Amino acid sequence: MAENVGILAMDIYFPPTFIQQEALEAHDGASKGKYTIGLGQDCMGFCTEVEDVISMSLTVVSSLLEKYGVDPKQIGRLEVGSETVIDKSKSIKTFLMQIFEKYGNTDIEGVDSTNACYGGTAALFNCVNWVESSSWDGRYGLVICTDSAVYAEGPARPTGGAAAIAILVGPDAPIAFESKLRGSYMSHVYDFYKPNLASEYPVVDGKLSQTCYLMAVDSCYKQFCHKYEKLEGKQFSISDAEYLVFHSPYNKLVQKSFARLVFNDVLRNASSVDEVGKEKLGPFSTLSDAESYQNRDLEKASQQVAKPLYDAKVQPTTLIPKQVGNMYTASLYAAFASLIHNKHSSLDGKRVILFSYGSGLSATMFSLQLRNGQHPFSLSNIAAVMDVGEKLKSRLEFPPEKFVEIMKLMEHRYGAKDFVTSKDSSLLSPGTYYLTEVDSMYRRFYAKKAGNSMNGIATENGVIANGH
Ligand code: ACO
Repeated sequence: MAENVGILAMDIYFPPTFIQQEALEAHDGASKGKYTIGLGQDCMGFCTEVEDVISMSLTVVSSLLEKYGVDPKQIGRLEVGSETVIDKSKSIKTFLMQIFEKYGNTDIEGVDSTNACYGGTAALFNCVNWVESSSWDGRYGLVICTDSAVYAEGPARPTGGAAAIAILVGPDAPIAFESKLRGSYMSHVYDFYKPNLASEYPVVDGKLSQTCYLMAVDSCYKQFCHKYEKLEGKQFSISDAEYLVFHSPYNKLVQKSFARLVFNDVLRNASSVDEVGKEKLGPFSTLSDAESYQNRDLEKASQQVAKPLYDAKVQPTTLIPKQVGNMYTASLYAAFASLIHNKHSSLDGKRVILFSYGSGLSATMFSLQLRNGQHPFSLSNIAAVMDVGEKLKSRLEFPPEKFVEIMKLMEHRYGAKDFVTSKDSSLLSPGTYYLTEVDSMYRRFYAKKAGNSMNGIATENGVIANGH
């Protein structure tokens, strides 16, 4: 059986277009600080009319293959996680086959997984399980999380975002799954869903979705601790993880979720919480679960107690989600990418816990063990390839009025046929795919912007190895 199965390589793509949350607050007539402090968000990325989940996936897949020097024939499984429905039957995965067919590789298992923001995690588990299984044929798995998160005008609109992430899966990985350490929570709720197939926008019960998220955090953590304790014969606490990474609809919920774990550790009398913490949070231990989600004093006190640990264990994971917004399936992995970006040189031998949440609902907490790895599949090379700092720096800020205008055009275009786009690729980096046309049979056509990609090794049609 393959050992240390996990993430060998990653790349991330987000659109070059964004708005400032501060400007959106003013534009929406929201009170100053509501989106920036209240939700904890800095900026929000979005697709213009030439980009969508398929173009972003094409871009990130070809970028990953090129930059790590992976032969497209070496991919044996390709899984996509997305909740951005473009076609009710044809998977996004089949669009990506264009990249592999050119190299004569049509022997690739896998299709799309959908359940709100959880689809990417389902796709990732499928790939990891495949490599660990008897049907593995020795090739790599490739997972794509791709979403454009857009909301109707109103309180949820500032919690949008857009991105695609590609994750290469195989044995002897620098980011290995501790496959036995997983705790899940699945339930039937209507917190966020997309029943109207004529609209890209979800129906959202915002308050319910916040409570469901926190309930899922609690329940997954309890299951996770239980499994750890059965396996290792000792108690688990947040001290046993160097970093914790959360699905991030907006940063404030991540702060609250981590504080919830600290409260859980207090209830379990775990070693991670000091005497002061126990003193401050102990009085809340008599609350029922239901009461505890609504208790503002508990929320405030636990965030206060958790703050130093949050700064050390969570804050390094928040960069991209705060800058780009909720990327749905890509959100958790963009948070993880932020950690690699910030801390790649000090992650050797560390355990990182991830929490994935998809409304409806499906949630899992799982564990990764990190080591430096060897080029090209090393943490430092993953950070170099993703080049997060440069990608963020080279974006172009749009005023909110222009963003609203683009949202209106996209509403009109959603599900439409027989149109051509502006084909304006001037804002896109070389090597980026973009939408050119949807014909009278709803068939979508994409082009790739010519020239070298940002690290100077991608050409328009070729794949040049820089790895091995
Ligand atoms: N300065 C500072 N803080 C402010 C200000 C201000 N001027 N005004 C409001 N706030 C605070 C509020 O006190 C609140 O903080 P709290 O949560 O600590 O109490 C926060 O800003 C948000 O304000 P609300 O009035 O609660 O916001 P509203 O209800 O209008 O919308 C919501 C927030 C529900 C998150 C909405 O954006 C939404 O529905 N988003 C989509 C759903 C979502 O993301 N759910 C999360 C899980 S599901 C998923 O991932 C899709």
